[in-house]
Amino acid sequence: MKRIILSSLLLAWQFSATAQSTSKLIGADKAIDPYHYTSVKSNTFDHASVACAHPLASAVGAEMMKQGGNAFDAAVATQLALAVVYSNAGNIGGGGFLVARKADGKNLALDYRETAPSKASRDMYLDKNGNAQTLLSQFGHQASGVPGTVAGLFATALHGKLPFKILIQPAIELAEFGYCITEREAAALNSVRESLTKNSTGASAFVKENNLPAGRQGWKAGDTLIQKDLAETLKRIRDNGQKGFYEGKTAELVVEEMKKGGGIISLEDLKNYKVRTRNALEFNYKGNTIIGMPPPSSGGLIVWQLMKMMEKRPLASYGFQSTKSVQLMVEAERRSYADRAEFMGDPDFWKVPVKTLTSDAYIKNRMADYDSNKATPSKDIKAGIIKESEETTHISIIDQYGNMISITTTLNNSYGSRTVVAGAGFIMNDEMDDFSVKPGVANMYGALGGEANAIQPGKRMLSSMTPTLVLDKNRKPLIVAGTPGGTTIPTSVFQTLVNILDFGMNATDAVNKPKFHHQWMPDEVMLEKGFNEDVKKELQSMGYKVSERGAIGRTEVIRILANGKREVAADKRGDDSVSGF
Ligand code: DON
Repeated sequence: MKRIILSSLLLAWQFSATAQSTSKLIGADKAIDPYHYTSVKSNTFDHASVACAHPLASAVGAEMMKQGGNAFDAAVATQLALAVVYSNAGNIGGGGFLVARKADGKNLALDYRETAPSKASRDMYLDKNGNAQTLLSQFGHQASGVPGTVAGLFATALHGKLPFKILIQPAIELAEFGYCITEREAAALNSVRESLTKNSTGASAFVKENNLPAGRQGWKAGDTLIQKDLAETLKRIRDNGQKGFYEGKTAELVVEEMKKGGGIISLEDLKNYKVRTRNALEFNYKGNTIIGMPPPSSGGLIVWQLMKMMEKRPLASYGFQSTKSVQLMVEAERRSYADRAEFMGDPDFWKVPVKTLTSDAYIKNRMADYDSNKATPSKDIKAGIIKESEETTHISIIDQYGNMISITTTLNNSYGSRTVVAGAGFIMNDEMDDFSVKPGVANMYGALGGEANAIQPGKRMLSSMTPTLVLDKNRKPLIVAGTPGGTTIPTSVFQTLVNILDFGMNATDAVNKPKFHHQWMPDEVMLEKGFNEDVKKELQSMGYKVSERGAIGRTEVIRILANGKREVAADKRGDDSVSGF
């Protein structure tokens, strides 16, 4: 356990003590102290738990359940808290997916992915010579899709027990009276200082205005971040419901910001935004049931294909991260990502051949040219033949009633488009880059796409987010898992699942062991720092191009033990933390 807030923060606390917090939860001597908190990496709880990217947000979610709320209440309150204390990915200006298994045995999949604005068009990011202008799809006003998160929160709250105004109050207080930032957050805010300034038209709470002398960084660990504009936006949502975001003053501020910066989101786009309830994917893996997000995320389908490509092979006997098991998993990943590029997109606009892509015959055929002795070049792997015509954040929750929820939500890049809505205090997403802006042109994660994922007004851009649940052989809750990480998300979830189901790991090891990734194109295996050197050399000798990279994902896992206890692990790669009771 790492104590991330130091005693030197007392100063900040004295400052805050003058503020009039009315929360029953937040403040000195209350359940959650935003000035002294600790990141807890793993624990085992009897009843309920949350694992997410920030200790304060985990605590908010767990407190809601302690007060009699359920996992849906925790999901809403945690996401709102993350929108305040984890502004590089927590959001109200982005979108996400929720997969739940309710205590009554029903699945729920909520799609609150952003949509392309009505003025968007297929070639909007091409210059007059037809060249892709990916800076425009990644930064600034034109990069944003119409945000879905707030609509998603209200759709989630329908399944909760507590009033929305209770669920949003901690977020309001954290924004209004501030909280101490961690070293990691200080560094992240400093690193986007220029970009936030360049891509926003007004001043924001994220840029510390103190005329920095050259070479001095603005934010440091323990500083208090107060977000007054965001607090007012959250109050409008508290008082007016979904309309507090999609209509009225907040919507007007968004559109004003868009107009000032050349963006195209309109008042009608905001008013017309709708959550889609989808049918969760469900498949069997060695007797366990895996429940995942369907398109417009590719994540659930990729995990389905990957697990099925493993199922009939003795993966466990090959050994964890042996050359043999890694090579098999890499070859499966390569094939599945080729399918992603060709076949996957928003099902409301493009027929995604889900049944075929996951059929036993197709999966078998897909691996027919797999050679356990050498790399299959990606140029030789095309999408299968079908006859029918980093920053994101994950939350894993289980409650005392047996509801389990997996949510991945995102602004896309860290701090999204870097555009802060002036007067409203939140950051807009740069999700438009997840569309294929031009066939053959990679998005910021190197993913390729074509017609299936071309831009159209109102369409949802293809995602890799993979919120996932697993039931055991008796259809009882077993695992809640998910992670950020762009295109590495499905492979991280895949590896987390086999780590537990095949290699018998506990949640902490499943989360923290080094990961690897192949996504068809570019044709290389990415190995996370700390990956076994001998395996790396053997892969190279088999013909794999290998590259090393920093952290892959920030996975949050809950594993339900045979005695019913909840073993929870938050990724060591960030400030992520577990909470529960
Ligand atoms: O939806 C997607 O697939 C991406 N926008 C996710 C971005 C992401 O995970 C960034 N985090 N590291």
